[in-house]
Amino acid sequence: MTPLLAAHGLTVRYGSLAALDGVDLRVDHGQRHALIGPNGAGKTTLLDVIAGATRPVGGRVLLAGRDVTRRGPAARSRRGVGRIHQRPAVWATLTVAENVRVAALPHAVRPGRWRPGVARRAARATADTLLDRVGLHDLAARPAGQLAHGQRRQLEIAMALAGRPRLLLLDEPAAGLSATEVGVLVGFLRELPRAVAVLLVEHRLDLVYELCDTVTVLRDGRTLAAGSPAEIRGSELVRRAYAEGVV
Ligand SMILES: Nc1ncnc2c1ncn2[C@@H]1O[C@H](COP(=O)(O)OP(=O)(O)OP(=O)(O)O)[C@@H](O)[C@H]1O
Ligand SMILES: [Mg+2]
Repeated sequence: MTPLLAAHGLTVRYGSLAALDGVDLRVDHGQRHALIGPNGAGKTTLLDVIAGATRPVGGRVLLAGRDVTRRGPAARSRRGVGRIHQRPAVWATLTVAENVRVAALPHAVRPGRWRPGVARRAARATADTLLDRVGLHDLAARPAGQLAHGQRRQLEIAMALAGRPRLLLLDEPAAGLSATEVGVLVGFLRELPRAVAVLLVEHRLDLVYELCDTVTVLRDGRTLAAGSPAEIRGSELVRRAYAEGVV
């Protein structure tokens, strides 16, 4: 079956540094795939390339078999790529509900059926549902800039889901969360429908092993290992890479 995401030979350079050096990655429909590795391994850069925010100097990105290497972030989003960033990115002066409505609007009605009023009503309904799901309903009228870090994370997840993603890219979603907030996040990710595949960058390996069925390990812009959580957990190579430089 054609994979949801296929990346071949991705290379990104910053001056003489190869942030990515010929990386291959495959994510199947509905898969929970983790991307781990020491600081500076290239994890965020790889998500940037998949989301279309960074153009690689080499390699190709295919979404459901279609080459999107030259398409930007908006086109990838229309093709089902949703994302949350390492530092939560929300519009601080808009309310919580407005943030989700703005994210939902381009996806609220099918192409060719666009009517402003219909789209606005659909976006409003989507925002209401998603804010309930992430537990932010009571804060809907609050400017997003006033939210605590953990609440911003939840808001960014709601915004990403408003785009009806088939592939959700999550960059260290548990970073900076309290133990209670991590529990809520894990429960939420477990309940995500299988129609949504997840590519999760996370330093907390306990969460990776709990949530994911496949793990890819990056180091110095290259794939060091890939396999099931049990294989990765038992890998001496991975243990050494982490011992030499992580978090
Ligand atoms: N815009 C940039 N300009 C120059 N170098 C960059 C840029 N972005 C990333 N890098 C470098 O590319 C390498 C990979 O960075 P990246 O942010 O992808 O790593 P990471 O695996 O996400 O690390 P972390 O776990 O710390 O988030 C690092 O050496 C980083 O310093
Ligand atoms: Mg990173």
